[in-house]
Amino acid sequence: MAKLIVANWKMNPSVENEAQKIFESVLKDASLEVQTVIAPPFIYLSKISEIKKSRYIALGSQDLFWEESGAYTGEISPKQLTAFGVKYAILGHSERRINLGETDEMVSRKVKAAVRNNIIPILCVGETDNERKTGLKEKVLSRELKTGLSLLAGSEEIVIAYEPIWAIGTGLADTPTDTIQTFNFIKQILLQMSKNYKTQYIYGGSVNSENIENFIKHPEIEGVLVGRASLSTHEFSKILEISAEYK
Ligand code: PGA
Repeated sequence: MAKLIVANWKMNPSVENEAQKIFESVLKDASLEVQTVIAPPFIYLSKISEIKKSRYIALGSQDLFWEESGAYTGEISPKQLTAFGVKYAILGHSERRINLGETDEMVSRKVKAAVRNNIIPILCVGETDNERKTGLKEKVLSRELKTGLSLLAGSEEIVIAYEPIWAIGTGLADTPTDTIQTFNFIKQILLQMSKNYKTQYIYGGSVNSENIENFIKHPEIEGVLVGRASLSTHEFSKILEISAEYK
């Protein structure tokens, strides 16, 4: 199965022209061998959906709101997103949990709303450095998973992104061995929940063109979520090229 490579542009770039340039470069590298998802800021979705000619690239959003419409100032609904062809939504990213106080309950409503609108949720889970050092990692992951998925029936298509917070934007990526161990723990939790999701397991946190192969060569690591390196056309192009070899 093709690896799932998700580009999370976060709050970048500053202008639409630049977004268009980055996207056009991705378009050149898109291939059947990789499942590429681009999650730009909302304001660029219109432009990007207009120039997206490749069916090998799917659009993603970096968040969504749990209602379909109504008096929710500043929010974007899943319905509005599907109108631009959005297929995936990154939900529960640690930057939203930390900076905006997003709770597991809020994340669970977003996950449910995504599924209701045929958007595949990419549920982000991960521990802080302190939680890791004090032996709380498993507890945190277990809570984020159990609550985050609590409103689903159990047979939906989902993506779980293991994103240790200490690895995001720090240049200190996890080791593939530890990532695989964590995936095994996550799989156990889902088993305990007696759910039968169609799940893809991906890793995120300081992935770049140098370390991508180390992750992606393992069949257990079905993809990656890339932040900073997805904004460099050179870096991202190499990431896609290497990933294509591990279809
Ligand atoms: P990074 O971000 O690749 O810049 O570490 C990853 C993420 O936040 O998903």
